[in-house]
Amino acid sequence: MSTVDTLRESWATRTGFILAAVGSAVGLGNIWRFPFQVGQEGGAAFLLMYLFFILLIGLPAMLVEFTIGRRTNLNAVGALRKIGGRTWQYAGALFVFVGFVILSYYSVIGGWVLRYFTGSITGGYTADSEAYFFEIATGFDTLLFHAIFMAITVGIVALGIQKGIELAVKLMVPSIIAIMVGLAIYAVTLPGGAEGYTYYLSPDFDVLASDWQSIVPAAAGQAFFTLSLGMGVMITYASYLSTDRNLAEDSGVIIGFDTGIAILTGLIVFPILFAAGLDAADPGAGAIFIALAGAFAEIQYGLVLGVLFFGMFSIAALSSAISLLEVVVSFAVDEYGLQRPVATALIGGGIFILGVPVALVSDGGNPIVIDLYDILAAEILLITGGILVMVLMAWFNPNLAVTELSKGIGRLGILGSLWIWLVRIPVIVVLLISLGLALVGYYEFLVDEFIPFVRG
Ligand code: TRP
Repeated sequence: MSTVDTLRESWATRTGFILAAVGSAVGLGNIWRFPFQVGQEGGAAFLLMYLFFILLIGLPAMLVEFTIGRRTNLNAVGALRKIGGRTWQYAGALFVFVGFVILSYYSVIGGWVLRYFTGSITGGYTADSEAYFFEIATGFDTLLFHAIFMAITVGIVALGIQKGIELAVKLMVPSIIAIMVGLAIYAVTLPGGAEGYTYYLSPDFDVLASDWQSIVPAAAGQAFFTLSLGMGVMITYASYLSTDRNLAEDSGVIIGFDTGIAILTGLIVFPILFAAGLDAADPGAGAIFIALAGAFAEIQYGLVLGVLFFGMFSIAALSSAISLLEVVVSFAVDEYGLQRPVATALIGGGIFILGVPVALVSDGGNPIVIDLYDILAAEILLITGGILVMVLMAWFNPNLAVTELSKGIGRLGILGSLWIWLVRIPVIVVLLISLGLALVGYYEFLVDEFIPFVRG
């Protein structure tokens, strides 16, 4: 591995880069977090807001991160320092911190997915899918599966870019799409599922009017989370680009896949939840697991389908987890000259420890520490990170941004200015509002739910 440490690696092929970015984007965010947010935030009204954020904010923000990475060929901290000067490296340090926080609970949930994979083989969840979820959501076994998930992630990242990440995602993306389409077709046939489609697809504008203070930050947070924005993943991945790719086209492909898979997940989960008579409006963190395990227990050859589905879901979660770890590892390798395998193992151990309370603490079966970490990370820290990089590029370095983006595309003309101005005012203003609302919401969560829980 010694060449890896001295010579910076790059993607072997264009598809390698795209697949890695898709692999990062598509993960628990699409299949676990998305349906759970839709249920919690009022169904189709949330979906509408989310799609709006993906297009209006996700796309320009992804372009900003890509240009930073390709321009500098550096890890997130080094990249921001190079473009903005020394003070900006603290924004990069925030990214490294956020990577720690997100991966710590991401890995616990990834452990649930592995557990369901083995549960499909043994038939463990067939008796009562709801009870099964609460049984496995926290506890010592949960900790064990968290450790396994983290160990696999560490293993892949330690192997480096081409042999680890690039290979893993080539398997994942095609298979997951095939299985999801199959499941969505199955869901259409369920009696009693129709209400699920209504809930998911026809927005109730009264909900939007009355609950926008929580819908806006939730939708913005979900858009950032699902596209892996706001903490330097896309900076880091684009830093391994050696040739001048058309970054706008690549972003379109990545966002298209990611959004498509999220929408498909909803088409699977909501009809199943409604058909089973479960409460879709408050499915909580267990929604996807309870819905699907219940379905797999019932349908013919369901457990075979379960093995395939949870197998793919595990790979999707892993290919995202490696991107989270890669941000921290590339920082340690580039900035401190640590050996990649050593850095990976140390950092992986630290993240595992941060996840211990997530795996162990339960509020009557509910894994409450997930909310504590997840709302903070998605709605507050990622949005803050997003605002910072956008200010850096759109306000302080617009020419550099446009020049870098135009490589591989040609003259951008008016579109370049449109991008910069879109980011400069509307995007940043919307994100600031969203951040303000999120801070209020988080304070309320702490005061109304978390602190009373801690006090018992
Ligand atoms: N986007 C991934 C998902 O949807 C999770 C993820 C990977 C992520 N890297 C990230 C989220 C960086 C935020 C920031 O599962």
